[in-house]
Amino acid sequence: MIDARLFRDVLGAYPTGVCVITALAESGERFGLVVGSFTSISLDPPLVGFFPDKRSGTWPKIAATGRFCVNVLGADQLSLCHRFAARAEDKFAELAHGASPAGLPVLDNAIAWIDCTIERVTEVGDHLLVVGAVEALGKEGEGNPLLFFRGQYHDLALLAD
Ligand SMILES: Cc1cc2nc3c(=O)[nH]c(=O)nc-3n(C[C@H](O)[C@H](O)[C@H](O)COP(=O)(O)O)c2cc1C
Repeated sequence: MIDARLFRDVLGAYPTGVCVITALAESGERFGLVVGSFTSISLDPPLVGFFPDKRSGTWPKIAATGRFCVNVLGADQLSLCHRFAARAEDKFAELAHGASPAGLPVLDNAIAWIDCTIERVTEVGDHLLVVGAVEALGKEGEGNPLLFFRGQYHDLALLAD
């Protein structure tokens, strides 16, 4: 039996970036979910993935739209991370943003974005593996990513010295 505290502590020694997965319903409603589990999977065909918790309230709403946009957060976007990691009725309230080629929300100053259609969803333990087929992608500037490591946020620039 693996202790849950130990599992979290040890896996927290593996650093991740932070992404907001966004989606848009036909009604115009916008959804967003913070994930640290985003990863590149395949180049041919181009596939990416992430792991939403089965208990996520936002994931089923994103899933119902059939597509999502990955927004890679920059080091100066911690407040967006907090906003989209909280359980809230409308996480987009009073938030200006742009649109991807598929029309999905692209957060201002996100350092990269990836438009996907949902290729498959597989149950894995208490999470789901979501695989997205990449339809379009792009990046903005040369800003540093927001990093999550040992339960805290970091900026590459500060880790460098
Ligand atoms: C840095 C960070 C990384 C996270 N990574 C994930 C993740 O990979 N998968 C996940 O389901 N939740 C992850 N979360 C938690 C979700 O963002 C949060 O539980 C969710 O937004 C709760 O709201 P919901 O019910 O609207 O889904 C992460 C949160 C933070 C702050």
